Amino acid sequence: MHAQSYRTKEFKIAGLKGISDQTVEMHLKLYDGYVKNTNLITEQLAETVRLKKAAATNPAYAELKRHLGFEYGGMVLHEYYFASLTPDGTGTPTDEFRSAVEESFGSFENWKTDFVGVGNMRGVGWAILYQDPVTQQLSNHWIELHQQGVPSGFKPIVVMDVWEHAFLLDYKPAERDKYIEAFFANIDWHRIDANLTNTAATRPVG
Ligand SMILES: [Fe+2]
Repeated sequence: MHAQSYRTKEFKIAGLKGISDQTVEMHLKLYDGYVKNTNLITEQLAETVRLKKAAATNPAYAELKRHLGFEYGGMVLHEYYFASLTPDGTGTPTDEFRSAVEESFGSFENWKTDFVGVGNMRGVGWAILYQDPVTQQLSNHWIELHQQGVPSGFKPIVVMDVWEHAFLLDYKPAERDKYIEAFFANIDWHRIDANLTNTAATRPVG
C-alpha cells in the first residue's frame, strides 16, 4: 500500500531567477526522500497492524506514527512549493490574487509584508498563505518543521519553503530575505489562482 505514487509529473523548474539549478536538483532529491519515507512508513504501519502490534505500549509503533506526519507533511508541502515556481515568472501577481488578499489583509502590500515577516521567522519551516474553505478568509501561518501549526482542513494557497536547504547554496544564512525575494520573482501566479479557485486542496501529482 503506497501513500503516493512516485512523482508522476515532473516539476519544470530549471532556470529560475536567483534560485540555482544546483539548489533545485538538490532540493528535488530531498523531496524524493520524503516520498520514499512516506511510503515506507505507511507500509511499516500496515504491517504493524497486521501483526497486531499497533499499541501505545509498542514504542516502535508510536515513533512511526509520530514520524508519519513529518514525512507526509514534507512530501505534500514540497509538491505545492515546486508546483508554484516557474522560470517564466513575471513577479506580478494577478488581479484575482490581489483582490483576494485585499479582502483579508486590506492590500497586497499588507499581505506581502506579513508573509515575508513569517518567512523570516527564526527556525526551520514554511510560510504558508492558507484559505479557510468555510469563510474564504485568508491568513498567513508559520509551519514549524512540516506539520506543526497546520490549521486542519485549510487550503494552501502560497507555500514557501524557508528551511535553509532551500537557499544555502545560493545565499548566506543571514540572507534569507534575498531568497524570499527570489521566491517571489519565480511565483507562477496562475498556479496560485488555481489554488484559490479549486474547491479542493489539490496538488499536481497523482
Ligand atoms: Fe525543502
